This record gives sequence, C-alpha cells and structure tokens, in this order.
Amino acid sequence: MIRSALLNVMTAAARKAGRSLKRDFGEVENLQVSLKGPANFVSAADHRAEDILRTELERARPGYGFIGEEGGNREGTDKTHTWIVDPLDGTTNFLHGIPQFSISIGLKRDDAIVAALIYNPATDELFTAERGKGAYLNDRRLRVAARRRLADSVVACGLPHLGRGGLAEFRKEFAVVQEQVAGLRRFGSAALDLAWVAAGRLDAYWERNLSPWDMAAGILIVREAGGFVSDCEGKDRMLESGSVVAGNDTLHHDLLALLKAADRA
Ligand code: IPD
Ligand code: CA
Ligand code: CA
Repeated sequence: MIRSALLNVMTAAARKAGRSLKRDFGEVENLQVSLKGPANFVSAADHRAEDILRTELERARPGYGFIGEEGGNREGTDKTHTWIVDPLDGTTNFLHGIPQFSISIGLKRDDAIVAALIYNPATDELFTAERGKGAYLNDRRLRVAARRRLADSVVACGLPHLGRGGLAEFRKEFAVVQEQVAGLRRFGSAALDLAWVAAGRLDAYWERNLSPWDMAAGILIVREAGGFVSDCEGKDRMLESGSVVAGNDTLHHDLLALLKAADRA
C-alpha cells in the first residue's frame, strides 16, 4: 500500500505519540500497586500524547484547526480543515493495564471527514482510511464482515459511565439486543470498536453519549470498509447526537430496528 502525504503526516504523528503512550503504559503496571494509584499519572500521559499530536500535526499542516479532547483546541487560519483528535481513547483500560486503547485522528474538510487514523500502540495495529480510497489495517485492505443474521453476530456496545445517566435506556436496549445476537461485547475504546467493525472482527456496534473525537475517524474507516454508519435515529448526525450504530448494510439495518423497538418499549 502506498500512503498519501496526508496519511504519512498522520501516521508519523500517531507513531510518535504512540511511543510516549506505550512507555507510560509500561509504567502504569508499576503504579498499579501503589496506594495513590496511577490516575494522575495517566492524565499526564494523556496530555503528553495530545501535545505531541498537536505539535506534529501543526508542523506539517500549519493552518489547520485542532480539536482535542484534552483541551488543546486551536482555530486555524485555514477554516476549511480541522483535526479532531482523541489522544487516548480507552483511558479506563489504560489505567488498568488493559492493552485496548488507541489514538484517534480524524481530518474534517468543510463538513466531511476525509482522512482517518486509529492506532493501538500496544498491538501496533494501525487503521487508516481516506475518503474514496478504502480502509486499511497496516497494509491490508479492510472489508466489514459479511454475516447476514444477528443470531450469528458478535455485537459490541458501550456501557454508560458511572454518574453520566442513560442507564435505564441502555438496559432496555441491552435486554432486547442480547436476546437476538450470538454474543455481546464491551471493549472500552469506541474508536477501536469502530475500527474492529471495519476489520470484520465485530459484526456490529452501537453506543450513545459519545463525543466527536471518539467517532470521527472510526466512522470514515467503517464506511471505507464498505460498512454502514448512522446515529441511533438512523440519521447521518453522529457527531451532533453522540450516538452511533455500525455494521454491514443488513446488520446495521436490523440492529437499528431493534434499538428503535427497545426505545418504544
Ligand atoms: C471513552 C471510550 C469508551 C466509551 C466512552 C468514551 P475515553 O473514551 O471510548 O469506550 O464507552 O464513552 O468516553 O474517555 O477513554 O477517551
Ligand atoms: Ca474517547
Ligand atoms: Ca480520551
């Protein structure tokens, strides 16, 4: 696979931030046993990664705007381009020494995401896509899974965070979906959940109450792998509504119908 100049820029930034996260991930295990725990350390690791990404992306594309979860926002002189970045998606996993976390970088041009990258430094898996050019895991072209029946499918979801609300709604959806699928999973990095749908590891995925940086890159990667993505209303308004449903055409359709039925119940 020959990467474009744009993807090269994104990949170099992600690998550099990834080295920093990986070093810090190694430290977390040591801190795990201390009484204070690694929480403050992880928050510092998160900020370090965002600083690296902002600096590297700015160096390569000086005018572009930047929206990062850790608050490093910058308005660019080029109003048409904005990076949407989560420097560490799957913080709870990272904090507990679980190697399911990622860096997520989406590039928005006007109103569309045109380039995407999700990188797990622990496994060195790099998911990328550009609009109209397909999705890749490292150098391998990706295609969503072909299963047609929810009854044969492994479906991932998100669980509402402690104190954030949405629990009653989730329980209704969970009860309905659980009865119809082969297996339900909760992995803890929304960006990787989407990347794994693109890779055909997961057949489908849904979650609510997400932020734009959790999803921006993953949405494009799923679509470029031939998958379908909408919000839980079936609309193309994921970044506004914060909800997402993804899968191949059939499973996306059937999962969406189940979620709507659960919400009416
Ligand atoms: C979280 C992860 C998780 C999802 C949460 C997100 P963070 O992001 O994506 O899978 O369920 O809603 O907030 O906080 O680890 O960057
Ligand atoms: Ca996140
Ligand atoms: Ca984060």
